[in-house]
Amino acid sequence: MDTFELLKSRRAIRNYENKPVEKEKIERLLEAATWAPNDRMREPWGFYVVQEEAKSRYERLAKEYLEERFPTKPHLVESSLKVVSTTPVIIIVTSDIVEGDEEATGDNEYAVCCAIHSMWLAAKDLGLGFVWRTRGVGLVRDRRLHEFIGSPNHKKIIGTVYLGYPDQESLEKMKPSKRTPFSDKTTWL
Ligand SMILES: Cc1cc2nc3c(=O)[nH]c(=O)nc-3n(C[C@H](O)[C@H](O)[C@H](O)COP(=O)(O)O)c2cc1C
Repeated sequence: MDTFELLKSRRAIRNYENKPVEKEKIERLLEAATWAPNDRMREPWGFYVVQEEAKSRYERLAKEYLEERFPTKPHLVESSLKVVSTTPVIIIVTSDIVEGDEEATGDNEYAVCCAIHSMWLAAKDLGLGFVWRTRGVGLVRDRRLHEFIGSPNHKKIIGTVYLGYPDQESLEKMKPSKRTPFSDKTTWL
């Protein structure tokens, strides 16, 4: 696929078929991520692939978080948990914290963002649906997610990626994506 076509057709896909994703395809996504640009070749990314039994544990974690966060919204909790249970693969992506070096730590985060975008594009290329989540069931800012991945020292969670084969019906119902023209966002100095 032509680069521009790939960039413009990439979408946030949140509904998946009840079908497992081949390990080779997950590995291709991870490989795509590792080719992202990164300052001084620190290669600051870490990946935690959540499937099967680990996904049941993730669901329990999400339930705890959602019930705490939305005590008066049981329907929201239920529908959010359904999102987790119907997602075949979840990948938690971390960035290395460089102790005492805020700038390097910041640059590491930028590199990890690039890595996630590379995975997103690769997913599109492989016929997979993909979304980067931070809020809600992404759990990115919840300390329990850090504990879930083993409380690694000097690692910050940047994104939780949900993926699977796209549900065709939902795909057909998706509204086209829009963007503000670059001219509205650009100052030529
Ligand atoms: C840093 C970041 C965080 C995001 N967090 C969420 C999220 O928590 N939940 C969600 O459904 N989508 C999330 N998204 C996906 C965006 O909502 C989506 O990319 C946006 O609506 C544009 O749609 P498109 O990707 O189909 O063009 C996130 C995207 C980024 C880059």
